[in-house]
Amino acid sequence: MTLTFRKLHPLFGVEIGGADLTRPVDAVVFGEIRAAFEEHSVVLLRDQPIDDAQQVAFTRLFGPLETTVSANPAGGTAFARQSNLDINTGVVIPPEDRRMIYQKANYFWHTDSSFKKVPALCSLLSGRLCPPEGGDTEFASLRAAYAGLSEAMKQKIETLVAEHSLAYSRSLVDPTVLTEAQKAEVPPVQQRLVRVNPINGRKALYVSSHASHIVDQPFAEGRALLDELTAHATQPAFCWSHQWRQGDLIIWDNRAVLHRATPYDAVKYKRLMQRTTVAGDAPTVTP
Ligand SMILES: [Fe+2]
Repeated sequence: MTLTFRKLHPLFGVEIGGADLTRPVDAVVFGEIRAAFEEHSVVLLRDQPIDDAQQVAFTRLFGPLETTVSANPAGGTAFARQSNLDINTGVVIPPEDRRMIYQKANYFWHTDSSFKKVPALCSLLSGRLCPPEGGDTEFASLRAAYAGLSEAMKQKIETLVAEHSLAYSRSLVDPTVLTEAQKAEVPPVQQRLVRVNPINGRKALYVSSHASHIVDQPFAEGRALLDELTAHATQPAFCWSHQWRQGDLIIWDNRAVLHRATPYDAVKYKRLMQRTTVAGDAPTVTP
């Protein structure tokens, strides 16, 4: 199997051709995919009609899988389900349903699981049912964002730590969408603002909609800094948008990119995206 590579954006992202994820992926091919992931932060593979078991098998090559928080429609499993279809009946869920409101937080720029003490390494999103319009995924390079900061700002944020929580990012949509038990499941955690890739040493500006404020700073001051840094990180020059086709699989580096979903007509169209998430290996803040 010979792989082909095509850049998606001048700063990040690559499309890999020639792989077949419906079959076991050998170590040589996986080595090339893994290296591309470390280098380019976002990897697109098209025409991969995988099922859940094949997705889990491929995901495991990157490392141990996370279990999804209970608030997700597929809570407690290896999948984070992004869909307007009921997981049991396949019937379209009404827009006012809590499960649909929960998913609206995906419209904010974020990195997956930064609300966990050990944040995720990467996510793999498989397009199973894709609407013909809307429901895109946009990515922003946090390495490009870091490199584009002034030296003064780099120094200012070098040792800063932000507090992240699922409760905060969900409160931006609806403060009542999480139950008290769901909030207690994932209490606030601390993450460094500058995250270093342990393999190549490249630095990323680790912001996310899960980040509420800066530790040891007045809330409003930290909030203003996070808003400024997020606006900087998501300027059009650092962004790439993907319009999904059924069978697409995207792997992204949660240490190095932000992502968000764009809206779609959830009454008119059916959408099913299955995400698996690979756990990271260490916290960004050491006690
Ligand atoms: Fe996400």
